[in-house]
Amino acid sequence: MKQLNIGLFGFGCVGQGLYFALQHSTGFRANIKKIVVKHPHKKRIVDSDLIAYDKYEILDNPEIDVVVELIDNAEEAFEIVKMAMERGKHVVTANKKMLAMNLEELISLQKKNQLSLLYEASACGSIPIIRTLEEYFDNEDLLQLYGIFNGTTNYILTKTIDEGLDYQTALKGAQQEGFAESDPTNDVEGFDPKYKAVILCLHAFGLIIHPDKVLNLGISSLSENDIQFASEKSLKIKLLPVIRKIDDHQITAYVIPHFINNNNNLFKVDREFNGVIVEGEFSGQQFFQGKGAGSHPTGSAVLSDISALSYDYKYSFKKFEQNGHKKFTQKVLLDIYLRLNSKSELEQIIFEEIHSQYYSQDYNYVIGKISLEQLFRSQAYLREQKLFCAVIE
Ligand SMILES: NC(=O)c1ccc[n+]([C@@H]2O[C@H](COP(=O)([O-])OP(=O)(O)OC[C@H]3O[C@@H](n4cnc5c(N)ncnc54)[C@H](OP(=O)(O)O)[C@@H]3O)[C@@H](O)[C@H]2O)c1
Repeated sequence: MKQLNIGLFGFGCVGQGLYFALQHSTGFRANIKKIVVKHPHKKRIVDSDLIAYDKYEILDNPEIDVVVELIDNAEEAFEIVKMAMERGKHVVTANKKMLAMNLEELISLQKKNQLSLLYEASACGSIPIIRTLEEYFDNEDLLQLYGIFNGTTNYILTKTIDEGLDYQTALKGAQQEGFAESDPTNDVEGFDPKYKAVILCLHAFGLIIHPDKVLNLGISSLSENDIQFASEKSLKIKLLPVIRKIDDHQITAYVIPHFINNNNNLFKVDREFNGVIVEGEFSGQQFFQGKGAGSHPTGSAVLSDISALSYDYKYSFKKFEQNGHKKFTQKVLLDIYLRLNSKSELEQIIFEEIHSQYYSQDYNYVIGKISLEQLFRSQAYLREQKLFCAVIE
């Protein structure tokens, strides 16, 4: 095992989690040479000699062979990662947005410079899903991969069903407990799980889909009526990214809340936990559960990537290399529950079939089949009108 010299960008939640994990791991030879952060006035838990504010103190240091990028800004992170690789440094990152937006360019940079770029922590925290897809399922065709990829929304949804809280109260609680940020948009509107789905789609199906093409409907329009609808039927509401093989040539992907019943393994994945279901053509269903976020769980995933670098590990992107023909499609029908403000909204959101509908003074919904294409076209309207939409199985 070779000694690694690390330059660390970011010393917040995950950066400090990694620092802790490195301090407490045994038999592992990695040394943090420098930590670059943003704000000079902040108190740090490490020696001030280790801290710097100029990115070139890491990028231009020939002793540093591994850059660990753990900052909270996707655009700046992309610049850092590109510069590090152009200078011959391996990179470990947890930045899902940066990765999802730039997968194609990052893969070619990696190939061109013959370097490793590892990012296990970017999708589902401590659940080792990327390497499982890369190493274990590299030869098996997958039928689908879905799950709970976002702990913040799962925490909120658990509180609404288990404790009967309304959405706003549950969100406030999540913010007070540190599970949700003051601006929760990225989580509650489903952007964060979408970025993770895009990353996992590459490793599971060999297909890169730009995040802008993937529908993400979130939970911010959830009303007490929707919560009651679920509770009365002993269902739970989970925000699920789904990536599914339609046929040998087509893959679909979307992020939509789902009503699920207790036959689904995800039913018991509550609070801030994440769960992933991988269904293979031969292996059947696998279920993974673990902490999807947090300082130590995420730090542990970063540590595992650094450890993998010590034996020259690289993702081989086998399915991506073999995939000359797979395409993304939205030509699929979904069984959808849609809560409406008024019946006239159905003129904007066209269902293929309606199975049941209910109208009263303060609660209207329809259940039926609608195409993903149609939902994608209606997403701005759904958000503006605060209509709650969920897949019902
Ligand atoms: N938190 C989680 O549980 C979790 C889980 C999975 C993935 N991630 C991902 O991990 C990354 C880090 O998240 P986090 O929660 O640790 O963020 P955070 O707690 O907000 O910390 C961000 C750190 O980045 C530093 N920073 C910001 N811009 C910088 C720049 N241009 N150059 C150098 N340093 C800069 C900040 O410096 P200052 O200290 O000076 O402010 C801070 O130390 C993000 O991409 C996030 O999506 C987080």
